[in-house]
Amino acid sequence: MLPSTSPHACPSPVTLRTIESLGELAGKRVIVRCDLNVPLRDGEITDDGRIRASLATLSALIGAGARVVVISHLGRPDGSPKAIYSLAPVAARLGDLLGHSVSFASDTVGESATAVVAALGNGDIAVLENLRFSPGETAKDSDERLSFATALATFGDIFVSDGFGVAHRKQASVFELPTLLPSAAGSLISTELAVLDRLTATPERPYTVVLGGSKVSDKLGVIAHLLPRVDSILIGGGMLFTFLAAQGHAVGASLLEIDQLDTVRGYLAEADRLGVTIVLPTDIVVASAFSPDAEHEIRSADSIEGAAFGASGIGLDIGPETAAAFAAVIAESKTVFWNGPMGVFEFEAFAAGTRTVADALSKITGLSVVGGGDSAAAVRALGFADDQFGHISTGGGASLEFLEGKHLPGLEVLGWQA
Ligand code: 3PG
Repeated sequence: MLPSTSPHACPSPVTLRTIESLGELAGKRVIVRCDLNVPLRDGEITDDGRIRASLATLSALIGAGARVVVISHLGRPDGSPKAIYSLAPVAARLGDLLGHSVSFASDTVGESATAVVAALGNGDIAVLENLRFSPGETAKDSDERLSFATALATFGDIFVSDGFGVAHRKQASVFELPTLLPSAAGSLISTELAVLDRLTATPERPYTVVLGGSKVSDKLGVIAHLLPRVDSILIGGGMLFTFLAAQGHAVGASLLEIDQLDTVRGYLAEADRLGVTIVLPTDIVVASAFSPDAEHEIRSADSIEGAAFGASGIGLDIGPETAAAFAAVIAESKTVFWNGPMGVFEFEAFAAGTRTVADALSKITGLSVVGGGDSAAAVRALGFADDQFGHISTGGGASLEFLEGKHLPGLEVLGWQA
């Protein structure tokens, strides 16, 4: 059994099956579905947050004498092996972080995986190659998914699901595999749910949601669902330009989703009706091009096309006046959920808005939750430590879908009921 100090003792929804329900683990082959989908640049991991977040469950299983088989996806290789999406560097980093040797199989259900799993002793751990190198993982056809899951199931006696970031995907290792073996959620999933539940059940007010990132269409569902539940929504990132355009402002060459204008207008009207404040930027950092050293100037949000760059100007960050206004709303809040950077934080010249929001979030006395791969990578890249926030979620799409009140297949298969 797991030691009593195990992180699995953290609060978890009563309906979720946890590892304790699985009995004795020593000598058992335990397949663990993690989400080790980390950002890589030139083969180097640029943010290992998701690997770190997986350590609690994996260390506990190793400590309990299980033979641990880690499976994950990385990127979207579309069903065939592609070297840039290999999990080999991730397995190496996992070994460094665990302080434990990690063997690596160069395929998913082939000869290498079979040999690597067979060689595991009690307390050993292996990582199999990227699940999405096999077409069955993401197949639309449920029989194809089941057949791949059945092949994976031969490597385990028990299945532990700990990839919260992929829980919204109906994929073989997330949805079918748990039905084939005794299965339970790992501590990462329990922790994520305990925190996200606090955002949906009875959040302390004022409750502010900060939304950024590039695509407004990805965030529409969450805006619709949260409007009746929050006090303020702050809009930054590439999606802000669709809001400005919906108010009749010209946005130059900035990101714009024309087909969402009517929906966005509807949300602005609905927010008015409900008394929810949607705070839109009043100033924008407008650049001559999408590049780290592009010329840029601060423009009022209603005259982005004025002066230097005219209609070819591209908004790449919220301006200082907006960032200060956002920080002021955040400072007054008791609960804040943030998903999506405020600007192109990867370019220093356009990182200030994201930095100001992160800084404000790190100072609130209530619950601050940073959701999503991009926002998590942003706060770490800008030098913030994980413990400056209440919680950094490993789920981007998954945490948004959770907050939208959607059914997450990877949780429901473990007994979770929304
Ligand atoms: C994520 O990065 O949000 C998860 O790893 C899921 O990845 P996906 O969007 O490619 O399914």
